[in-house]
Amino acid sequence: MRLLATTNRGFESVSAGEVRELTGAAVTVERPGLIGFDGDEADLTRLHCRARTLNRVLVELTGGAIETPADAYDQVRAVPLAEYVDPDQPIAVRGKRIGEHDFTSMDVAERVGQAIVDDLRAATGERIPVDLDDPEVVFRATVREDRFRLAIDATGETSLHRRPYRVRDHDAPVRPTMAAALCRLAGVDADTAVLDPMCGCGTIPIEAALLAGNRPLAPGREFALTDLRFLDDGALERERAAVEPRELAAPIRGLDIEDRWVTAARENAREAGVADAVAFEAADATTAAVDTEAVIVDMPFGVRTEQEGLGTLYTEFFANLRDAEWDRLVLFTAREDLVPFEPTRRLDVRHGRLEVAVLVVDRDEIDG
Ligand SMILES: C[S@@+](CC[C@H](N)C(=O)[O-])C[C@H]1O[C@@H](n2cnc3c(N)ncnc32)[C@H](O)[C@@H]1O
Repeated sequence: MRLLATTNRGFESVSAGEVRELTGAAVTVERPGLIGFDGDEADLTRLHCRARTLNRVLVELTGGAIETPADAYDQVRAVPLAEYVDPDQPIAVRGKRIGEHDFTSMDVAERVGQAIVDDLRAATGERIPVDLDDPEVVFRATVREDRFRLAIDATGETSLHRRPYRVRDHDAPVRPTMAAALCRLAGVDADTAVLDPMCGCGTIPIEAALLAGNRPLAPGREFALTDLRFLDDGALERERAAVEPRELAAPIRGLDIEDRWVTAARENAREAGVADAVAFEAADATTAAVDTEAVIVDMPFGVRTEQEGLGTLYTEFFANLRDAEWDRLVLFTAREDLVPFEPTRRLDVRHGRLEVAVLVVDRDEIDG
C-alpha cells in the first residue's frame, strides 16, 4: 500500500526519520506537511501506536491530473474499492481544494462520492450508505492546483496532535507533535537530562518524558483504522501490548515564571501518566541554574509580550545560557534575529500563521 502521513510544515525531515525508524520504509516528501512511503497493515497500526510527530496517517488510493470533477470520478472508478470497504459501512467524502478552479470542493466530494457508490454497486450489487455526520470510513478527496488525490483516513476525524493529556491549555501552546519533533532533534532518549526553561503548560517536558520512556500517547484511543476491512481484528491491541516502557535514567524538568502554568503543567503531566518522571517549578529562566544535557525551549514570540521587554528577555536568557552547563539547545522562536548563537541546523516551520525557526545549537560548536 502507498501510505501518506501529514506532519507539521517544516518538520517533514524529522517525521520522515521517525517513519523510517518505525517501518524501515524509504520516505519521500510529497509537499510541505505531507510525506509518503510504501507500507503494509502492520506499519499502519505501528505508526498509530508509536509515532509521535505525525498528525494523521492515510492510505492513498489514487491520484492524477484533474481539470474537472469528472476526471476525479474516472480515477476513483478505477480503484477496487471493495477491497477496502464493505457495502454496509457508512462513508463520508471530505473534499478540500487549494488553488484557482471553476468548481468547488463540494463538487469534487459529490463526484467522488458518486464514483464510490457506483463502484461498490458494480462490485457487490449493494448501495453503500453515506453518512456525513457519523461515518465509519472517511475518504479525503483533495485537489491541489491541477492534481487530484483520494485517500482513506486511517486516523479518524481527530488528529493525532490532539493528545488527551492536555487538559490545561496555555495561551500560546506548541502542538504536541511539534514538541515531540523538537525532542527528536535534541536526541532525547532514556539517558538524556532535559530542561525546558519556559515550559508553559508543559508540552515539551511531557513529550520528552513520553518519548524517553517509550510510553504510549493515548492508550485507550480508537482510530478509524479499526473499521477498515483490510485490517485484522485485534492488530491494534497486539501492537499496543508490544510497546515496552523504559525506565528514565535522567531528570526531565520544566520551569516557568508564572505559577499558573506550573500548576497547569503538573496537571497535564498527571493526565499523561508521567508525573513521576517530570518535575515542574516556578523560576526565572534568565537567572535559573542550568545544568542539563538538552535545553529545549519554545520562547515567547512577542505577539503578547511587549517588544522591548522581549529584547531584554532574550539577551538575559542567552547570557545565562552562555555560562551554563548543557550540550545541545533546541530553540523554537519567531525572533531568530535576537538569538546570539550560530545554529548547527535550522528548520523553517509554520506555527499557525507565523513563520518560525527551529534552531539546533551544539555547545561544542559555539565554544570551539
Ligand atoms: C510560548 S510560551 C511556552 C508554551 C509551551 N511550549 C506550551 O506548550 O504550553 C512561553 C512561556 O515562557 C514563560 N516565560 C516568559 N518569561 C520567562 C522567564 N523569564 N522565565 C521563565 N519563563 C518565562 C511564559 O510565562 C510562557 O508560559
